[in-house]
Amino acid sequence: MSEVDVVILAAGKGSRMKDDLSKPLHKVAGLPMLEWICRAVRKFNPKNIIAVQGADEDFSSYVDETVVQKEQLGSADALRCAFPKIDAEKLIVINADMPLMTENALVDLVEKGEGFDAALLTADLKKPFGYGRVIPVGERNVVEQIVEERDATADQEKLHLVNAGVYLFRADYIKRAINNVTTDNSQSEYYLTDALPGAKIVQVADWQDILGVNTQQQLAAVSKIARKRINDQIMANGVTMIDPLTTYIDANVLVGTGTIIKPGTVIEHDSVIGAENEIGPYAHLREKTVTGIDVHIGNFVETKNAKIGDHTHIGHLTYVGDAEVGQAVNIGAGTIFVNYDGKNKHMTKVGDRAFIGSNSKLVAPVEIASEAITAAGSTITDNVDRHAMGIARQRQTNKSDFWQRMPHEDFATEYDAKHDQRDGQP
Ligand code: UD1
Ligand code: CA
Repeated sequence: MSEVDVVILAAGKGSRMKDDLSKPLHKVAGLPMLEWICRAVRKFNPKNIIAVQGADEDFSSYVDETVVQKEQLGSADALRCAFPKIDAEKLIVINADMPLMTENALVDLVEKGEGFDAALLTADLKKPFGYGRVIPVGERNVVEQIVEERDATADQEKLHLVNAGVYLFRADYIKRAINNVTTDNSQSEYYLTDALPGAKIVQVADWQDILGVNTQQQLAAVSKIARKRINDQIMANGVTMIDPLTTYIDANVLVGTGTIIKPGTVIEHDSVIGAENEIGPYAHLREKTVTGIDVHIGNFVETKNAKIGDHTHIGHLTYVGDAEVGQAVNIGAGTIFVNYDGKNKHMTKVGDRAFIGSNSKLVAPVEIASEAITAAGSTITDNVDRHAMGIARQRQTNKSDFWQRMPHEDFATEYDAKHDQRDGQP
């Protein structure tokens, strides 16, 4: 393929989202929509990825170059803003709000659009609402016209072939054609779709690839599909999921073969889960959790930025944050890694085969050596050496004959009395 530049149209106001966050930065399975697009197009090895952004945005960390569209005059105007940065022969233009776009669909567009001045991806949607409708020239796979829904007649609205919002252009063609686009429509905007007559229609293989996000509801629907794709891929690598529908795994997560993930589990981005682990139910593995082989993380355990060694068990009700935990460590129920002092986060280290008693608080920075023990219920603020036991709690005292001094009622007797009454006994 000859050289190609990519332009991502990302300057729209996103007003239908009804919130303040810039639309391309809304996350889908842990990644901003803009990052999803970049990942799909980067596989092409494009010459340059250029984002068109609004005056208040800065997307420079995602792409090679950015240009500003000062006033939101429409998608054609947005593309025009990028022209000074374009020097490749071909151009892929893509809306920033379609995070499910895949490399396969883009390859299809480029291959089938070969030899045309312009080509676009389309899909036949059961529910085409909100999309521009594509009207072909007779039976041919060429565009006669694209009508936006708000400009469509009742008959045009019934059409199910929709414009995906991703286009392939010869650069010299679109630079000329864009000059013929007017604002003669219901929104008085420059529609890029008005430069598409004559373009080759390329039907996408998987209709889900082209779904766009204009509203919060669409963001949730698209996120659900993204998560299903992630889960399917993880299961294809030999991971067991008891209930994929309640297993929420972000993009950029790896899970090793033979691991079992139980319901209600959340695994966030940049985590690497080893082989033969048992995770969940109801575990929350936050960013940068890295586990070895045969690690057990049970119910109501939260981890974050934590390296956890082979054969270590963290069974119940525990927080492990900013930690390095060795191999074959047992962490008792209700243990808290106290990592935050109100300003900074601190590290905790736990050595191999250490035994952390239930309801321990490990106040970071602190180090529990290998084969060291903390007594249940301890608040550990000092390092514990190898083979030592750290105990930090008050010694128990028992006060005899205390029962009689309590001001409580004798519930047992009261209960017996009521019960007897109900049975009709004296
Ligand atoms: C657009 C298409 C529609 C298609 C749909 C697919 C047009 C006119 N219509 O509609 O045919 O079916 O996408 O999802 O293109 N943008 C700018 N500057 C602007 C206006 C928009 O950068 O002045 C960007 C937006 O950030 C967005 C993209 O262009 O990424 C499309 O704009 P949007 O308002 O979402 O268009 P749709 O109504 O969804
Ligand atoms: Ca859109």
